[in-house]
Amino acid sequence: MGIDPNFHHARTVVDQHEGHDVWGPVDEPERLGIHGTHVAVDFDECIADGACVEDCPVDVFDWVETPDHPASTRKADPARQPDCIDCMLCVDVCPVDAIDVDASRGE
Ligand code: F3S
Ligand code: F3S
Ligand code: ZN
Repeated sequence: MGIDPNFHHARTVVDQHEGHDVWGPVDEPERLGIHGTHVAVDFDECIADGACVEDCPVDVFDWVETPDHPASTRKADPARQPDCIDCMLCVDVCPVDAIDVDASRGE
């Protein structure tokens, strides 16, 4: 399925994490929402493949532990979202299309 690129219209911000927005719905531990706005990772789609963490040239992502989430027990969190240079590698390499990047959405 992948991340909905219009999530910022379809969803609302329900929390903050490491300086970025969290877009709901969130119902832990099964439903974790989307982390980030410019660099957005759908935690409910992420299967912890890790390609984004390894390939980002400016090291935007950190692992966060998500025990008991049905898709994977860790997620790539856009912890350094302001460092993103819009290379789009993470979007291209994610096997489940869990990431969307759009600088026009702001941070
Ligand atoms: Fe890194 Fe993705 Fe931005 S790979 S530079 S977070 S577009
Ligand atoms: Fe997750 Fe895709 Fe990265 S599955 S760890 S967002 S490459
Ligand atoms: Zn986060």
